[in-house]
Amino acid sequence: MNAPVVLDPRRCAPDTHVVTTHLPVPGLGLLPVNAFVLRAAEPVLVDLGVTALGGDFASAFAKAVDLEEVRWIWLTHTDHDHVGALDALLAAAPRATLVTTFLGLAKLGLRGPLPAERTRLLAPGERLDVGDRRLLALRPPTFDAPETTGLLDERTGALFCADSFGAPLGAPAERAEDVPVGSLAEGIAAWAGIDAPWLGLTSAGAFEAALEQTRALSPAAVLGSHLPPAGGAMLPALIEALSDARAALASATPAAAACP
Ligand SMILES: [Fe+2]
Ligand SMILES: [Fe+2]
Repeated sequence: MNAPVVLDPRRCAPDTHVVTTHLPVPGLGLLPVNAFVLRAAEPVLVDLGVTALGGDFASAFAKAVDLEEVRWIWLTHTDHDHVGALDALLAAAPRATLVTTFLGLAKLGLRGPLPAERTRLLAPGERLDVGDRRLLALRPPTFDAPETTGLLDERTGALFCADSFGAPLGAPAERAEDVPVGSLAEGIAAWAGIDAPWLGLTSAGAFEAALEQTRALSPAAVLGSHLPPAGGAMLPALIEALSDARAALASATPAAAACP
């Protein structure tokens, strides 16, 4: 297996480029790891890639935006596949402010002190004004870290959904639409079991309410951290796959675990 490579930025939605690498998941395939460059009036980076490849992610971002112009670094959460280029970007993007939650800031603080003037706390339901649009912070339907905060670009309708709808795949794909629906659903089920095993403890009704919140956003694009970029028309299939994954996990979850 060759070492993971960080690919050059690709346009994936209006004003939006994706920077991707693929990580091998033994027995399951390749997991895309995406970070995004949003060329708003005040440019935004959404996540910063894999820690072991942080310098490569920083170099790739620089091909899509002048790093000195970056104003915001939105960290959906603090896992090592989302904060990779943090140290490099804090140095290379001196005007950038980190956007995270209260818990996210606390967890980032464990790496070392962050200057207060370079952080902005934002909770789900709040918005960040980036000059020519507002970004709505939201909680995606699944997550593996409680600080997880996705976002909706209210100008383009692009939904950045963090780890939700992630899927290891048999081969890299530029678009989710290029992956056979059955393979995509298998990948989403496998990833949900790994990344959000708590899903099997939820009721169908409670999880459907969470999915309905996502459905109600009517996103024009679904930009997941671990899914090839998808058009909004893919959302019903993605939701169905995640709903089916919940049902499968629930049926496999021992009753004693579900009812302590
Ligand atoms: Fe994660
Ligand atoms: Fe992740």
